Amino acid sequence: MTYADQIKTVKDYVRLPFLYDHWYVAGFKDEFDRTPKARTLLERSLVFYRSEAGELLVFQNRCLHRSFPLSESKLEGDELVCRYHGIRYDTEGAVTRVPCQAHVPNRKLRKYPVKEVGPFVFIWMGEADDPRKEEKFVKLPFLEDPSFRTVSDVVELKSNYLLMQENLNDLTHFSYLHRDSFGIDDSFLDNERVIEKTPEGIHCKHIAYFDGPAAAQLPPDVHPMLEGQKLEKWDGGTAVSPGIFKGYAPVFYTDKDGKRAALESFVMHYLTPETRSTSHYWWSISNNYAIENDEYYAAVKQFANVGFEEDLWACENMQNLLDNDRIEFEEMVIAGDQAGMLFRKVMLDWVQTEHGAGPAD
Ligand code: FES
Ligand SMILES: [Fe+2]
Repeated sequence: MTYADQIKTVKDYVRLPFLYDHWYVAGFKDEFDRTPKARTLLERSLVFYRSEAGELLVFQNRCLHRSFPLSESKLEGDELVCRYHGIRYDTEGAVTRVPCQAHVPNRKLRKYPVKEVGPFVFIWMGEADDPRKEEKFVKLPFLEDPSFRTVSDVVELKSNYLLMQENLNDLTHFSYLHRDSFGIDDSFLDNERVIEKTPEGIHCKHIAYFDGPAAAQLPPDVHPMLEGQKLEKWDGGTAVSPGIFKGYAPVFYTDKDGKRAALESFVMHYLTPETRSTSHYWWSISNNYAIENDEYYAAVKQFANVGFEEDLWACENMQNLLDNDRIEFEEMVIAGDQAGMLFRKVMLDWVQTEHGAGPAD
């Protein structure tokens, strides 16, 4: 049976195999230091630590001898020394010494490539020498662009990561799940909804118009520039990889030369499975306006977390039913599902590229 035949409901969809040949976020840069730290990503336990020169190193978290967790071990200089019987590993993961024997086996821990960008560590979960690795890296230049200001946070999600990817691909839930917190009502559903294929993937956006900057909830810093203008705001985004949803929420205005210009806003969601039913969920919002306004960015962070808590609550409740309710059912598909259904197809393509058409019966 192919994977395509198996996806009838979300319950089948969350059982799809994990996708290792992609980049995911592994953590915040400042979480990792000279103390080895364990983190499970895509059902693999990994150990993270920094070399004396500050390079971040990531290996499988199991000693090659008896599976002792290396995260419970010690660094001596740049060598990781297993706390159980003292086997030592260098910064490439190669064994350099085995106590009680002169012979040093030619064995290595699996090492995972990482990149540090903005506040985040990105990790490649595939084979380290995979030639597609660089081209698959999702570039997010605004995370390091000094004309942007970024706020970020992390929450632990007690559901499969794909439930949240579906949530992000579907903006129609704004009017109900976020009605009280964001003050959005049914009128949001009357906005023009555009779904298009871009080089990054399936992009779904809602377009709304506001009379002036206050109506668009923009900070006072930009009001003088925008007063009296009709502003166009997009809310939308694209799943650019299995674990990265790139939200895009610009506000378009007319600049002093009469040209269309944008206040940029990237609302990023980084979903990294931990297990089948738990996920790490980092997020960041990067805007290129009001960047000196600390109060505004504190409010943005607080506001975002309130909304994300509602999404978490929804996904965790659905996961609970998927785990415990045995009834067989067919999902009803509605018009608002269009972007979500297209995302399922993209997901299926990624699964088939990595795992083939499907498991043998
Ligand atoms: S388990 Fe690590 S040296 Fe024995
Ligand atoms: Fe939401």
